[in-house]
Amino acid sequence: MNNTRRDFIRKISGTSALIVGGMALTDAYGKTITLQSDVKISANDKIRIGLIGSGIIGHYDTDTALKVPGIELVAVCDLYKGRLERAKEKWGKDIFITQDYREILSRKDIDAVLICTSDHWHDRISIDAMNSGKHVYCEKPMVHHIEEGQAVIDTQKKTGKVFQVGSQVASSVSTLEAKKIYESGIIGELTYVEATNDRSSANGAWQYTIPTDANTQTVDWDAYLGDAPKVPFDAKRFFRWRNYKDYGTGVAGDLIVHLLTNIHTITGSIGPSKIYALGELNYWKDGRDAYDLVTSLMQYPERKNHPAFQFFNRVNLADGGTSGSPAKIVGTEGMIELGWSSLKVKHFKRPKAPEIGGYDSLNTFTQAQQEEARKAHAVLFSEDDKKWNYGKEIVFKDPDGYDSRLDHFINFFESIRTGKKVHEDATFGLRAAAPALACNLSVELGKPVLWDAEKMKLE
Ligand SMILES: NC(=O)c1ccc[n+]([C@@H]2O[C@H](COP(=O)([O-])OP(=O)(O)OC[C@H]3O[C@@H](n4cnc5c(N)ncnc54)[C@H](O)[C@@H]3O)[C@@H](O)[C@H]2O)c1
Repeated sequence: MNNTRRDFIRKISGTSALIVGGMALTDAYGKTITLQSDVKISANDKIRIGLIGSGIIGHYDTDTALKVPGIELVAVCDLYKGRLERAKEKWGKDIFITQDYREILSRKDIDAVLICTSDHWHDRISIDAMNSGKHVYCEKPMVHHIEEGQAVIDTQKKTGKVFQVGSQVASSVSTLEAKKIYESGIIGELTYVEATNDRSSANGAWQYTIPTDANTQTVDWDAYLGDAPKVPFDAKRFFRWRNYKDYGTGVAGDLIVHLLTNIHTITGSIGPSKIYALGELNYWKDGRDAYDLVTSLMQYPERKNHPAFQFFNRVNLADGGTSGSPAKIVGTEGMIELGWSSLKVKHFKRPKAPEIGGYDSLNTFTQAQQEEARKAHAVLFSEDDKKWNYGKEIVFKDPDGYDSRLDHFINFFESIRTGKKVHEDATFGLRAAAPALACNLSVELGKPVLWDAEKMKLE
């Protein structure tokens, strides 16, 4: 069945037919592959979920989770009353609502929670949730500060609950395709990676709409602050929390973390050993204390599964250029160019023979010496030895309407149902979050930060 037909079935049949078996999507080499979202899943086995943090991504995540057969939303928690009313408006009047997440965790009828709060609450709620017997899908970055990560890992190990970090690129079909291509060795030895996530608009720079009824009656401000410094109510700090270091992790924790997740998934790397970063606030000077431009360079040492390589990455929220391909994975014999939902591979084999002539020292020698050198070269190398062998360009595109978030949720719920490994467990989550958070640290310290990715400790 072709992609168009599948989309058609998705559109007309809604949830129950969304997961249909064995679709004929072909990979970059023309081999048939099956998307995770096309594997048949039984809806008999109900999983009841609670949402904690019903903001922008809470809506995306919940709507996506509900597309997986057998998932039912039972309760929603948020600190702004308007979002609780909205939850009832959108997901049904029987949904239990609360401003206290502990009321969600104490309910026996909830199996799993989606944690979609601002970053500074991720570790606390994740730990409390797993200790309360709930499986957890926690949005990225897994933690607000590097030191908080180990406790999340320990709690997951102690409780045995399923824990998935919500950087959906880890389940994306083109990322997994790039991984396969990378592992085939077609681009030669990996030397360099670059990845960017630039934006230009106000929403892209997190100047989200603030409701006109934002005040201390509608927002539980004290609960929101949690372990952050006590400051008087400020609607901007609540509804545009990303712009403040006390609650968010800046462009590095927010967006560079996705780039790291992608690169770690493709290369199988556990992370860099050295992180240098520069940060500036150039354009969005609206009272925020977060940078709107962060550029970083990370050194990945040689490990069992990859050679040493450098990773350049950048997020510019005031981008006035035309953003090109968001990522390139460069080897000695080729390159994987990653688009947002596609990839292209260019590759070649170098000629055996070194060149002679052209931009070379040859022309600077006497006529006689040039002839002698050419003769010597011809003795050593055949015409074939002089050829560059360019391979056929490989192209892969996500099917129309493809949603990696859906595949990420399928992976999460499958793990709860069958014990299958999640794509982004707590260890993976910390190994992606820590180098991103180390960018902020490097900017503040004005020097490189050393990270032991094996032990998951700053040095
Ligand atoms: N995976 C992705 O692609 C992706 C995209 C965007 C955001 N995110 C992540 O999702 C999280 C939420 O981002 P957002 O844009 O939805 O923010 P948002 O401000 O729209 O929503 C956050 C909500 O969390 C609530 N909240 C905060 N602390 C709480 C607490 N202690 N108890 C209950 N509710 C609490 C707030 O009331 C708010 O409504 C962030 O960590 C962000 O990094 C992930």
